[in-house]
Amino acid sequence: LPNGLALTPPMGWNSWNKFGCNITEQKVESVADYLVSSGLAASGYAYVDIDDCWMAGSRDAAGRLVPDPVKFPDGISGTAAYVHAKGLKLGIYESAGTKTCAGYPGSLGHEQTDANSFASWGVDLLKYDNCNDDGTSAQRRDTTMRDALANNSSGRAILFSLCEWGVDNVWTWGAGVGNMWRTTGDINDSYGSLLSIFHANVKLAQYAGPGGWNDPDMLEVGNGGMSFTEDRSEFSLWAEMAAPLITGNDLPNSSAATASILGNRDVVAVDQDALGKQGVQVSAAGGLDVLAKPLAGGDVSVALFNENSGAATISTTASAVGLPASSSGYSLDNLWSHVKTTTSGAISATVPGHGTVLFRVSTGSATSTGTTHALVGASS
Ligand code: GLA
Repeated sequence: LPNGLALTPPMGWNSWNKFGCNITEQKVESVADYLVSSGLAASGYAYVDIDDCWMAGSRDAAGRLVPDPVKFPDGISGTAAYVHAKGLKLGIYESAGTKTCAGYPGSLGHEQTDANSFASWGVDLLKYDNCNDDGTSAQRRDTTMRDALANNSSGRAILFSLCEWGVDNVWTWGAGVGNMWRTTGDINDSYGSLLSIFHANVKLAQYAGPGGWNDPDMLEVGNGGMSFTEDRSEFSLWAEMAAPLITGNDLPNSSAATASILGNRDVVAVDQDALGKQGVQVSAAGGLDVLAKPLAGGDVSVALFNENSGAATISTTASAVGLPASSSGYSLDNLWSHVKTTTSGAISATVPGHGTVLFRVSTGSATSTGTTHALVGASS
């Protein structure tokens, strides 16, 4: 959506995957505190998103949405003020239906009233769900909200995140309506869910770009259902697919292992690269995937993902991932181990079951060019 927002994939946190309906102002504020104190905010994580169940069961006499006074004693406006004072942005949730997915008042038929409320409260992002519709198309209902957001009475810029679970091939019309669009049903905290969402989302690279991104759903990293290797694969593949990096764990209580994944600025830089290209599958024989993502300045990020349970060697070449011929060879920067190597063209690694090795590949040998690893878009 050409509203000047989401020129790189949005980054932040959302309450749903870990807390479901059990969301409070206090939790939101503790996430904001943690984003700043951990350094994640400086790495680009900017949005603190409240998902479903933030509101009271009915609208007020003027037809406006009302925040649940127990969960949000300072209202959404007070919560937004706290988050803004930390230099962060606040996201909220509604549905293009009569009710949200959890049964709270929906925005269908109330789009301008609700857009005005969100803007007046200081909301910076709206995640717009698709539950309890009236039988009209999602594109039509979302377009009504897109226009209401654009015309909000405060003139506030609000990032528009569509949550249509891939219905009506949303990727074919999403870029005209929203800044990101869900391409699949809901993620859950399992390797099987990661794998099926990856397979669906990786095929949609042509539709993604600055201002409008395929959304394979919020991260499960740190929620405990996957191994460290699988969590790392999820983060690697989401970055390689230029996906929004919206964490979904109990962020302030992240383990050191989880923090090492979410805080890897080299991997974040792949996701946030200014060229805005989603990585494509170069090969996938036997569940051994090679993905290539061209980066600004000519580097290529290469992901070697082993879908199977046993370790395997995955191999490709510089030319197969789109790099030009280079008489001085190529340098490979392993973005998880931070080991740098050189090669005349072969790109290969032993990858543990369900694991991903992620390289930034540059032309020229690392020793002769020295600084070819400057990270475009990284705030290091
Ligand atoms: C749908 C969405 C989820 C979450 C819930 C909230 O299932 O896809 O991401 O927002 O609704 O009820």
